[in-house]
Amino acid sequence: MPATSAHLWGSALGITVIYPGTFDPITHGHTDIVGRAAPLFDRLIVAVAGSTAKNTVFSVDERVEIAGAILSQYKNVEVKRFDGLMVDFARANQASLILRGLRAVTDFEYEFQLAGMNRKLMPEADTVFLPTSEKFTYISSSLVREIAALGGDISDFVHPHVKQVLMDRVSARRAAAAAAAAPGKS
Ligand code: COA
Repeated sequence: MPATSAHLWGSALGITVIYPGTFDPITHGHTDIVGRAAPLFDRLIVAVAGSTAKNTVFSVDERVEIAGAILSQYKNVEVKRFDGLMVDFARANQASLILRGLRAVTDFEYEFQLAGMNRKLMPEADTVFLPTSEKFTYISSSLVREIAALGGDISDFVHPHVKQVLMDRVSARRAAAAAAAAPGKS
């Protein structure tokens, strides 16, 4: 494959970029960012947050496994969990850049604050933003989870593997709720 200018600047400098998030679950919006960023950098680490205030449907190890399964085609992309501060994980992995996707103006304020705080905590790293492709700007993991829980079709928003594991989780939760509500159970 011929090297593009984009290949040259990231790879020649040996840059490791980390793409942190909750990924509960990973959606087409996230994979779009990974697919566009992977050729720009030498090494891209999808960093799945273990410590999160969010009430996640999947455990951190499940989120790592799911993301790893659908991103395996990218040879320079790794998926790892991290616990604690993201900047500590970045340092431990010699990452000099933090990658975030921007969906809309509404993301900007939070992202600007996060980038500023991370820069304060780790001045040697910087944050780079990629705009989410227009067709994915309305996707969020929580909306996908909600649609799945209410029996809607999530095929347009997630990889078939993600759809399968999420539908399995929804069914298991429904079965557990039904069993708990069955006569004879308290
Ligand atoms: N396309 C579609 N959806 C996207 C997207 C994209 N390109 N990028 C993000 N989203 C969605 C996510 O699905 C998520 O949806 P949800 O809130 O409905 O679940 C939402 O946007 C937020 O995205 P996400 O990347 O998951 O951000 P987050 O706020 O969950 O993650 C961390 C933030 C984990 C990176 C941040 O809290 C962190 O670094 N935590 C570690 C602890 C730490 O260092 N704290 C100090 C920070 S200064």
